[in-house]
This record gives sequence, C-alpha cells and structure tokens, in this order.
Amino acid sequence: MDYKEYITIVEDWPKEGIKFKDITTLMDNGKAFKSAVDEIVEYARKLDIDLVVGPEARGFIVGCPVSYALEVGFAPVRKEGKLPRDVIKVDYGLEYGENVLTIHKDAIKPGQRVLIVDDLLATGGTVEASINLVEQLGGEVAGCAFLIELTYLDGRDKINDYDILTLMQY
Ligand code: PRP
Repeated sequence: MDYKEYITIVEDWPKEGIKFKDITTLMDNGKAFKSAVDEIVEYARKLDIDLVVGPEARGFIVGCPVSYALEVGFAPVRKEGKLPRDVIKVDYGLEYGENVLTIHKDAIKPGQRVLIVDDLLATGGTVEASINLVEQLGGEVAGCAFLIELTYLDGRDKINDYDILTLMQY
C-alpha cells in the first residue's frame, strides 16, 4: 500500500520551515491504518518480541495496536513527571527542542526482547534515548519500527547497530 497518500504535509508547523508529516489522516482511514500496523506486526513476528516500547505520544498510537496483535505487553516511555512510580531517565535532543524521557524501573525484565515503535524517525534522538532506557534495564532491542523516516535528517546513523523498519521515507 502507498501510505504516503494518507499523510498530510503541513507547511511551517510547528515552526517556520518545518514540513510536518501529519499521520492523523492515515489513522482516519481504517484500512490504511490497519495495513500499516499489520506490516509492523509481521516484521515483529520474525524478531520473537517479548515487549513493545513506545515513546509518548504518537508512539502509543502505533505501538499499542502492535503489542495487542502480538499479545505482548506495552511499556510507555514518557516525558518527565508523567510516570507515577520509580523511573530511570535520559536526556535527549529533538528535531526542534530538548527533552527528558523516562521509563518505569520495573517495565522491562533483564533479557526481554524489545521492539521500539514510533510514528517518526527524524533526528533519531528519541529512539536513541529509548534504546538507552531499555538497555539500562537489561532489555535487548530486537528491532525498531516507524511509520515515517525523514532520511535527510540521518536518524538511521544513530541506530546503525539495530534492525530498523520504516514504512515511508521522505
Ligand atoms: C516526535 C515523534 C517522535 C520524535 C521523532 O515526537 O513522534 O517521537 O518526535 O523525532 P527524533 O527522531 O528527532 O527524535 P514529539 O517529541 O514531537 O512528541 P509527541 O509524539 O508527544 O508529539
């Protein structure tokens, strides 16, 4: 399926010069959304995944249906101050800003095979930080899956050592 026809490009949002890739018009279309999730699920089945990890907020939208289909758990990576129990944290850089990501200390058991899922691979800062959190807890990152990759930002270079799936490239 050509998923790009369901993505809306929004010029100058959230800042001038950014061509924002809006996935809500893909999510609006049940068949396209299911097909995209199914492709990630098919990829994940080959990796023998124990757990899906997804960063706030759009990583939840894509990651949760993947975990549901695989019948494995989902662990949220969240911005600081959102998770209620003991967390570990990491600083990371964004395409436009700085942030801190956290995960519950008991979210991953040592040796678990983790799939990281997000909507977008841009600079790679978010996935790199998420990998850092998973590995701090003893998890093994078996793969990383995204709807969209912005190839001109070279995010892939930050995660060269990992298996990567992206469904659309810009
Ligand atoms: C966006 C996107 C990815 C990340 C990708 O999230 O959903 O998580 O940026 O960028 P990177 O590869 O340069 O790190 P954002 O931080 O805007 O949060 P949101 O999903 O809560 O809007």
